[in-house]
Amino acid sequence: MSSVSILLILCTLLLAGQSIESARSKAKKNAILIFADDAGFMQSAYNNSVCDTPNLDKLAARGLVINRGYTSVSSCSPSRSVLLTGLPQHQNGMYGLQHSVHHFQSFYNVKSLPVILRNNGVYTGIIGKYHVAPRSVYDFDYFKTGPIQQVGRNITYMRQLVRTFLRNANERDTPFFLYIAFFDTHRGSWKPEDQRKNGPFLNLWGDGGKGHGRIPDWKPHVYDPDKVLVPYFLPDTRAAREDIAAMYTSFNRMDQGIGLFMEELKASGHLDDTLVMFTADNGIPFPNAKTNLYEPGQGEPMMISSPHHTKSWGKVGNSRAGARKEITGLGQGRR
Ligand SMILES: *[C@@H]1O[C@H](CO)[C@@H](O)[C@H](O)[C@H]1NC(C)=O
Ligand SMILES: *[C@@H]1O[C@H](CO)[C@@H](O)[C@H](O)[C@H]1NC(C)=O
Repeated sequence: MSSVSILLILCTLLLAGQSIESARSKAKKNAILIFADDAGFMQSAYNNSVCDTPNLDKLAARGLVINRGYTSVSSCSPSRSVLLTGLPQHQNGMYGLQHSVHHFQSFYNVKSLPVILRNNGVYTGIIGKYHVAPRSVYDFDYFKTGPIQQVGRNITYMRQLVRTFLRNANERDTPFFLYIAFFDTHRGSWKPEDQRKNGPFLNLWGDGGKGHGRIPDWKPHVYDPDKVLVPYFLPDTRAAREDIAAMYTSFNRMDQGIGLFMEELKASGHLDDTLVMFTADNGIPFPNAKTNLYEPGQGEPMMISSPHHTKSWGKVGNSRAGARKEITGLGQGRR
């Protein structure tokens, strides 16, 4: 079966890191990894025509869309640990979730991506959901991981942090790696009263309604449950449709955030020397998807936008080999 492992991202970054070292005098190369929480295939790039995703569409037009992206484990902390170390969860020690009673963490001797990059002169940052441990293994120079709703769903606040990070990077005059880990489209609280107040996907939080607060840069989109696309693995019921409509609102908020970050990237002068990647930790939070070994649990959206590989722009990668060649440029010799 042809597949592109999420591990490829790591290789891509490390290659970028090496070329930074070997070509310090030449142009700098930076990387931004945008990581969605429990997000599925709601972009138009994956043929969803109902959920609005203009900013991910722009990224798709400037990059490669990967149709065979998979996580090695359909669960939050382990998936993140694999992404950040390149080691399967049983090798890095993060077998399960990090928080409260689960209490998993990686082995102390594991070398993670941000630490390797930092040791090679790259300024590193995390904005958003952390959910891995220990800090000594997963350390970043710029570390903004709370309060979780603010750093993970408040796109105005996140934009301010992105701006600060990019300003710091410019002041240091070093290449950078920024990991932006959204909390959207994770579900909100399970308590019925919280769901009534803020919506099942915190889709009402920050919309300016009574008691919801406001996220100034966000223009909330509300979706009609009758119009959403019900995936084949879910029952077509009213409850499922209402949940999917709420998830679309949360996904669209993330998309608007990505638009803001791309504006910040442009304003910082780094649109044309930054690799931008988008993917997610596991499938959507519905039966048969998240935490399941089925396709909807393991399959991930994955997009890679390299300003140096314009020949890949707008393309869809269906094979492991094809995608690897196009992403890393190994097929044509490294650039
Ligand atoms: C989207 O639809 C087009 C046209 O039918 C098809 O070629 C493409 O493979 C589809 N993409 C995905 C991700 O399903
Ligand atoms: C989002 O962040 C902005 C900027 O920090 C703040 O003014 C606003 O109140 C926040 N919104 C919510 C809902 O917390």
